[in-house]
Amino acid sequence: TRVVVVNGPNLGRLGVREPDVYGHLDLEALRRDCTTWGSELGLDVEVRQSDDEGQVISWMHQAVDERTPVVMNPAAFTHYSYGLADAAAQVTEAGLPLMEVHISNPASREAFRRHSVISPVATGTITGLGFYGYRLALESVAHLIERS
Ligand code: DQA
Repeated sequence: TRVVVVNGPNLGRLGVREPDVYGHLDLEALRRDCTTWGSELGLDVEVRQSDDEGQVISWMHQAVDERTPVVMNPAAFTHYSYGLADAAAQVTEAGLPLMEVHISNPASREAFRRHSVISPVATGTITGLGFYGYRLALESVAHLIERS
């Protein structure tokens, strides 16, 4: 099964950006990790990143059309993008898993990070575990596919 791992704005800056919060590893390392974890789980994982809200929304539409489960770190879009929330809702409405992941624990940070417009339409949310959260999200997708 194909799974898309979608990363939102500024996650292309992993490793450089606030390493105390997001760690020292870059997006390429995340890509390698997710691909490896996916193959262990029998999933064909494709890791994407964009700073462009329209692009991320298009990837949700594509996931629906191609019936592809989604793991998504919506980054700052999490907190305010109703456009992305509406697109994400179509994924779960279509019966596809959509796991929301955050590297940090947004609930322990600034007030504006405490609210997610994506969580209400996600299958589940994993926060605060670094890159390991993506692994758990991929395991969750594998579990949900098996169960369905
Ligand atoms: C993040 C948390 C968001 O609040 C922030 O805007 C990000 C990354 C995380 O992975 O912890 O860009 O989604």
